[in-house]
Amino acid sequence: MSGGRGTASGRKPKTRALVLIGFMGAGKSSVGHALGKLLDWQFEDLDERIERREQRTVPEIFRESGESEFRRAESAALKELLEQSQAGTRKVVALGGGAFAQKHNVRLIAEAKIPTLFLDAPAEELWERCRQQAGQQGIERPLLGTLDNFRDLYAARRPHYLRASFRLETSGKTADEIAAEVVQVLGLRKSGGNK
Ligand code: S3P
Repeated sequence: MSGGRGTASGRKPKTRALVLIGFMGAGKSSVGHALGKLLDWQFEDLDERIERREQRTVPEIFRESGESEFRRAESAALKELLEQSQAGTRKVVALGGGAFAQKHNVRLIAEAKIPTLFLDAPAEELWERCRQQAGQQGIERPLLGTLDNFRDLYAARRPHYLRASFRLETSGKTADEIAAEVVQVLGLRKSGGNK
């Protein structure tokens, strides 16, 4: 685990929320679930909020209205989520792979003073996970494309992800192992522990 830009490594923020970022297949949702269970924090997947607000699935939004409309819906959902997270229960949030590549989203999260964690793994491993999830769970990702497109998009987005407060190598680790490491290194506490 390493601290990101401007963050002294080993610093343990007292946080009410944590935002997980990373490319498609990085395990943001499965790690988010595992963290939520470990900490007794609420888990929220931003894509699910978008689908509820828009009354359509993410692939439907892409198909019917295009990526720019999806990005608008994504930012609106993020803004709403961050406003709500100022009060109430502690929360771990998984963003979709493109959300942190949008400057205004990064600004919204920074203004909310919520730390971000980049779940990092090589493009080839992420590609394999996405292919498996498509085959076994029917998970459709509108921007999956070919391996070449996937690699190009990964390379374009990586500099954005590296601006996260923290980065964790996830290669070869299970969601539970990653969650345990995050709790330890970030010094997060179970709900009720330090309210
Ligand atoms: C996207 C990733 C998806 C979803 C949408 C766009 C992206 O989420 O938000 O299809 O731009 O990389 P996952 O990262 O959970 O696959």
